[in-house]
Amino acid sequence: MSADPAKLRLGVNIDHVATIRNARGGDLPDPVRAAHLAEAAGADGITAHLREDRRHIRDADIERLMAEIALPLNLEMAATDEMVEIALRHGPHAACIVPERRAERTTEGGLDAAGGQSRLAPLIGRLVERGIRVSLFVEPDFAQLDAAVAMGAPVVELHTGRWCDLLDAGDVEGAERERLRLAEAARHGAACGLEVHAGHGLTYANVTPIAAMAEIRELNIGHFLIGEAIFVGLEASVKGMRRLMDAAR
Ligand code: PXP
Repeated sequence: MSADPAKLRLGVNIDHVATIRNARGGDLPDPVRAAHLAEAAGADGITAHLREDRRHIRDADIERLMAEIALPLNLEMAATDEMVEIALRHGPHAACIVPERRAERTTEGGLDAAGGQSRLAPLIGRLVERGIRVSLFVEPDFAQLDAAVAMGAPVVELHTGRWCDLLDAGDVEGAERERLRLAEAARHGAACGLEVHAGHGLTYANVTPIAAMAEIRELNIGHFLIGEAIFVGLEASVKGMRRLMDAAR
């Protein structure tokens, strides 16, 4: 995404602008407008999750993001034939493969890359061949990272949700154990030649220790930024995150 290899990139996930739009139907607020504002505020990329049930981002949003946004698009998607065809048709900069369960409110756990290699490897191969940078959204677990390497995925995104939940629950020891697990996974991933990203549940209050992990190259952040934007505007909310990320390096 960016020329400076040392810079920690910020991918802004705009899904929840679409969530608000879809609460009433119609076209407002427009997630593509949010993508433009995020770009103006210093985002390095835009992330959007086209879910099987289209609960937030719709197919037309992906078309418009590809046509109208200069920043690289990271398409989050389940490992289904339908989503692979959509990704191959649009050719986004990156595709982040996530597990998807219809009943979940958000992506609750990492992808079982290690257990699903026979199903995932051909699909990853097709995306990579199309020039799409494939990322696997996984728990901070060495076996998952090794599976990403084995399947030829160049990127992993470490799921920070468990760490955020432990912090929220006030479980200081558990959170510290999980932070160490994330740090070790980031080191292991980088040592294996993977580009390491992280995301899920990050806020101004918890981003610093994750942003401080030198091997992590990109954070993908959505829900908090869109929520904060209600109070301060999207540009200010993205700029605030950018400042914290830069200060942590
Ligand atoms: N990264 C991935 C792979 C995700 O699935 C999500 C949630 O859609 C995020 C990052 C962003 O999480 P949050 O909205 O909690 O910031």
